[in-house]
Amino acid sequence: MELHQLLQEAKEKIALVSTQAELGDVRAFYLGKKSPLQKYMKKMSSLTPEERKTLGAEINAIKGELEDLVNQKRQALLDMEIEARLQKETVDVTLPGHVFPVGTMHPLKQMIRKVEDIFIGMGYSIKEGPEIETERFNFEMLNVPKGHPARDMQDTFFIATKPDIALRTHTSSLQVRVMEKEKPPIRVICPGRVYRNEAITSRAHCMFHQVEGLYIAENVSFAEMKQTLFYFAQKMFGEQTKIRLRPSYFPFTEPSAEMDVSCNICNGKGCQLCKNSGWVEIMGCGMVDPNVLENCNIDSNKYKGYAFGLGIERMTQVKYKTNDIRLFFENDVRFIQQFQSLK
Ligand code: DAH
Repeated sequence: MELHQLLQEAKEKIALVSTQAELGDVRAFYLGKKSPLQKYMKKMSSLTPEERKTLGAEINAIKGELEDLVNQKRQALLDMEIEARLQKETVDVTLPGHVFPVGTMHPLKQMIRKVEDIFIGMGYSIKEGPEIETERFNFEMLNVPKGHPARDMQDTFFIATKPDIALRTHTSSLQVRVMEKEKPPIRVICPGRVYRNEAITSRAHCMFHQVEGLYIAENVSFAEMKQTLFYFAQKMFGEQTKIRLRPSYFPFTEPSAEMDVSCNICNGKGCQLCKNSGWVEIMGCGMVDPNVLENCNIDSNKYKGYAFGLGIERMTQVKYKTNDIRLFFENDVRFIQQFQSLK
């Protein structure tokens, strides 16, 4: 084959190649050790020096040209590969994004925050304490010695191997923890979870939440307590809310009361939550028993105080008109999501 024919043929082959691997093969064929050009090289020895010079120059020119063409083709193929990859990996930033579901703050937590906000507005601060509690804080220091019948009021979960340790049955244990550390005037609220060994029904659960409140200072009166709690109830449930204090008994307060708010589910007409009475009990309260103050080394002749324990689940039921306490603990998103807009 003539040299110019060989060049022509190689050019066509290079032009047709579509992958780097094919290009490698074509290059090896025309420029490698066994290429047809080598045959011309071998002929050289039989030529005159003049002819050798011309043929040598011609072969080198062809080699150079082919080498250039291969390099150009390699670059063109690379560009095509990059272009194809870019096409495939292109991101359309104008497409709408994925919508990830956002959670909701649990309705009970929302309620605790609301209670905190109202009392912070009245100058109270917030304290928290352990859910696993000693009998001393949960009962003894609160005027409930061993064998006291009031212990039966609160069915306690004890730790089997440690009879003096229990899951706290109320947040009142925090009263003692605070009074042992701080000097009056004291004004705190203590939110938290509490536990009682009760049958689970639509109205009761074995765990629930309370917010304990405690105010100790000189010259504190029952009337002041009533006004504070009335203000709280109106802030929480609305201006139209009425309260009712019923005499009650707690070992750690004297006198003691239970406070009801007017039922805003039925507006007094009667419903399941208020047991047709028009009133819903939301807390126990009273003047701190002097014994409790003395137990905590606070002079009961100089200082007085009131305390209260709010039931968070009950208040949430009244505020958001839910009729089954179990819903708060099942964590069914269909229930929880309904509280999304209330934050
Ligand atoms: N600890 C009581 C309970 O769980 C509620 C309570 C009543 C708390 C009177 C108080 C109080 O601070 O003064 O039933």
